[in-house]
Amino acid sequence: MAELTNPERRMLRALQTRHDEWTLDDILEACDWNDQAIAASAGHGLSNHGLVKTIKTSKKGVILGDEGLKAAEFGLLEKRLWEFIKQNPSATMSDISKSFERNESGPGIGLLKRLGVTISEGRFVFENRAEIDEEIELRTKFIESPSIDNPLISHFSGRKNLIEIVEEVYTKWKITREGIKFPPKDLVEITQIADITSELLQGEDWKSAQFRPYDVTLEASMPTSGRSHPMQALIERIRSIFLEMGFSELVDNYVQTAGWNMDALFIPQDHPAREMQDTFYLDNPSSINLDKKLLEKWKNVHEHGGNTESSGWGGNFSKDISQRGLLRTHTTVNTIQYLAENPKKPCRVFAVDRVFRKESIDRTHLPEFHQIEGIIMEPGANLAMLVSTLKTFYEKMGYPEVRVRPAYFPYTEPSLEVEVKWQGKWLELGGAGIFRPEVTEPLGISDPVCAWGMGLERLAMLVLGLDDIRQLYISDIEWLKNQPIL
Ligand code: PHE
Repeated sequence: MAELTNPERRMLRALQTRHDEWTLDDILEACDWNDQAIAASAGHGLSNHGLVKTIKTSKKGVILGDEGLKAAEFGLLEKRLWEFIKQNPSATMSDISKSFERNESGPGIGLLKRLGVTISEGRFVFENRAEIDEEIELRTKFIESPSIDNPLISHFSGRKNLIEIVEEVYTKWKITREGIKFPPKDLVEITQIADITSELLQGEDWKSAQFRPYDVTLEASMPTSGRSHPMQALIERIRSIFLEMGFSELVDNYVQTAGWNMDALFIPQDHPAREMQDTFYLDNPSSINLDKKLLEKWKNVHEHGGNTESSGWGGNFSKDISQRGLLRTHTTVNTIQYLAENPKKPCRVFAVDRVFRKESIDRTHLPEFHQIEGIIMEPGANLAMLVSTLKTFYEKMGYPEVRVRPAYFPYTEPSLEVEVKWQGKWLELGGAGIFRPEVTEPLGISDPVCAWGMGLERLAMLVLGLDDIRQLYISDIEWLKNQPIL
């Protein structure tokens, strides 16, 4: 049997005493309430339970329009004009123009004329003073409390913006057969707890109290309020997952050098990704000085493998190319610098940050996007650890099915591509691997480093079910309003 709230119990008890229609006023009186909202919500609840029937009837009503509201506050125009003339019996038209607004005097005189005032030799003449007084009084009363049944309705309907005829909806309630049968013993009001407060939990009363049940299947309206953009909300969620997994966050500049963005990562200087179509090189700063010793180390590694067993890329390494300014093309540029500064300290670090690539904009590409980057450096770090960390991350994001495939990056060995299953399809979300000795050795790193970098927008497309990445960055208020809370 339905559990009723106290107001529902009280209202149903009242309705059981008389089985015909009840108006709102009847209910307020019988239940001893003065808040209409309580009655309306109890009525709504009882009709959801099938215990009462809600009957809606509508009736024409009248409300004041803009001019009507002004009249209610300052007086009707004819009344103000009439008082003025009574007080200044010798007033002329020009006195009127001085004391009233331009747009008031003309229509005002028109109104008075229709009430029987005439103008003779510039003065106002009237014989039926009492009648005019009376008519103006009636109109004033109407404005003070407008009613659809007042015959002045037709007069005011002919005047601009004084009144508006509206449809008013009235609700009445009538008990149903189920309501009549509802056992009175279940209509006794009880102490119910609707809010769980800290005071409540500190006391003992809750142990014997009844908790108010909520029906979570009932329709509710969607509150529209300000909140984070879905991208920001997603970033916050990713952040909290990595923090929860024991990572610390790294935030760094997006203006970088080719040296850190590429050379440190053993990307050969003649690699196609270095060319203008992929990377935004900067005019200002076009070049940023790098540490001479570091450049020398990178030169050695690139040309012949340095102190590693690698034979390097061969050719001539250019320190000028290394010092060119650019907008970072991946966040790995920041994790590698973090490692260079802390080569001996085991760490777990992540970043969610913006990167730039010379891409033309389409359904799946943007020149400015975000990566979710991370590293684990510690003795014994290995591929299994890398894969299980990524799996854990995606599982916490709600994607338990993750697989990795062999891939190639110049800076990792082995290298992986990470894929997530979404709606039956495997989607590639990013790359990962273990940094090569050509990367770690010049920086003095001796422990293995697991690293990964993934596209945030790609993930956002999955989470938000998008097939066009551009949707994330247009200000589509309707779409934004309807996004899930992440
Ligand atoms: N930096 C790579 C990219 O931008 C991703 C990656 C990061 C791969 C770290 C391996 C290791 O796609």
